[in-house]
Amino acid sequence: MQHTPLDPTRHLRETGPIGDGTPLRFIACGSADVGKSTLIARLLHDTRFATETRRLIAADMPGHARDTRNVVAGAATADLAVILVDARQGVVAQTRRHSRIAALLGIRHAVLAVNKIDLAGYDREVFQRIVEDYRAFAEPLAFASLLAIPISARCGDNVVTRSAEMGWYAGPVLLEYLESVEVANRALDQPFRMHVECADRPNRDSCGYSGTVASGRVRPGDRIVVASTGCESRVRSITARNGQLAEAAAGDAVTLMLTDEVDVSRGDLLAPPDKRPEVSDQFAAHVVWMHDEPLIPGRPYRLRIGTRTVAASITEIKHREDVDTLQKLAAKTLRLDEIGFVNVETHEPVAFDPYDANRETGAFVLLDRLSDVTVGAGMIRFGLRRATNVHWQALDVTKASRAGIKGQQPCCLWFTGLSGSGKSTIANLLERKLCAHGRHTFILDGDNTRHGLNRDLGFTDADRVENIRRAAHVARLMVDSGLIVLVSFISPFEAERRMARELFESGEFIEVFVDAPLEVCERRDVKGLYKKARAGQIQNFTGISSRYEPPGKPDLHLQAGTTPADALADSIYDHLRARSYF
Ligand code: ADX
Repeated sequence: MQHTPLDPTRHLRETGPIGDGTPLRFIACGSADVGKSTLIARLLHDTRFATETRRLIAADMPGHARDTRNVVAGAATADLAVILVDARQGVVAQTRRHSRIAALLGIRHAVLAVNKIDLAGYDREVFQRIVEDYRAFAEPLAFASLLAIPISARCGDNVVTRSAEMGWYAGPVLLEYLESVEVANRALDQPFRMHVECADRPNRDSCGYSGTVASGRVRPGDRIVVASTGCESRVRSITARNGQLAEAAAGDAVTLMLTDEVDVSRGDLLAPPDKRPEVSDQFAAHVVWMHDEPLIPGRPYRLRIGTRTVAASITEIKHREDVDTLQKLAAKTLRLDEIGFVNVETHEPVAFDPYDANRETGAFVLLDRLSDVTVGAGMIRFGLRRATNVHWQALDVTKASRAGIKGQQPCCLWFTGLSGSGKSTIANLLERKLCAHGRHTFILDGDNTRHGLNRDLGFTDADRVENIRRAAHVARLMVDSGLIVLVSFISPFEAERRMARELFESGEFIEVFVDAPLEVCERRDVKGLYKKARAGQIQNFTGISSRYEPPGKPDLHLQAGTTPADALADSIYDHLRARSYF
């Protein structure tokens, strides 16, 4: 059984006895209560003795909750989609959304099952109107085949046996069609690929690499290459649970023994040297977003492709798709169930094939950095080559030498807290004291950088994420130059503060939580902004109409509601002294 990254825990139901022909994997989709389960149950029950020619495997999609997630998971390995429409309702938003997702996930064959036709009086015109409507919508989806069948899953009309009520329908019944429709086994026709799950060392001089063959075939004697490093070797032998194999093919779980000692580890992709996958740290992809928190460009996520997981972010949303009209719309974020075309950047290069060529090596999922839940599913369309043409320039004068001249250990003091909590006041007092003692410093202040570097940004979640990303990178350059940098930004989200921390070496990033209760900040209202926010004159105001996530484990936690600012500035100074920053 293959597990693409898109369906880690998929359940499958099989209909009918095992035949000799290639199995057909299909999903049933459409809006809630359209009759998906009734249809699958009927196929499962009635075909137990009827089908002899082909095994039918239905992706089981229990429940209606997380609907899109289920369709994405089911469609990832399906060859055909049975799209159900209620004859009384016709094509609805969910029909269009599921059809779009099916096409996006590489399903080439579709059946439009106009269900509950019994409740529409077995009416030919009702059927024809729905079919016309659907064909007009689905044309750009370019299914290789699209057959429309009027059925009643509940009564059995045209599911397994021909209906006596619809003499006007001359096409095949559903089961007959599922048994005969020709679908190519694309995974077998592709070049060999295997994501390494683990490396075992049964004895000192041999090493085996286990995984599931994602596509193609492999035999002892074949040359292989580790995609990301270019290291080559040859397959010495192939073992599976039931012994040695003369050949392994897509779907087989195997261990490959190689003839050479090469550096291979979990997450690597093995391929033939003459048919290598692409390796890049930037690519363009379609993403289906599956979380209540929207996708935000610049926000750090984790990306899992095959058995590899790397840090990643979306650098740009090229467009979002309107699933009703399939039009491309401008977008700054993607919300739950939305589909977008985006540029992705990974922190390390990854090996992949375009999804159209290989569904196993072209699919990825995005995970939340903090909770590890799946937030999006992606299909890679093409690699972006510019990533490979921008290299790090080696420089002779180092951070240590620059800092040495200044006689200090550079660091970034990252002040976070509500507007009016006292971040800038404390940072200002601290900088004065540091300067008075001959330290080299700089302050990056949210309000000030918003006049220049960040003048194009507002206060939506997406803009704040970008605001912090830029501030963090500037702070890092300043730390490289040997300075003690004081960054004073509300920085309301944990994910971006963590991203900032990860740009620095250990001990360089000091998170300072300037903790003053909202009531205190609002009472102070230094800039009169809280009053305006309460009056509805400022949108997305932190603490009022936009979230602030307090740090879980700040390096310094300042009680800024009760302790005077100069005492707090002194306490940070003492902290730095005690830890020998200067
Ligand atoms: S952050 O959230 O992106 O980190 P930043 O620190 O740059 O915010 O800017 C916050 C400053 O912008 C506040 O101190 C306040 O003066 C001003 N401001 C204007 N509108 C807002 C708003 N909607 N929310 C928060 N601060 C705002």
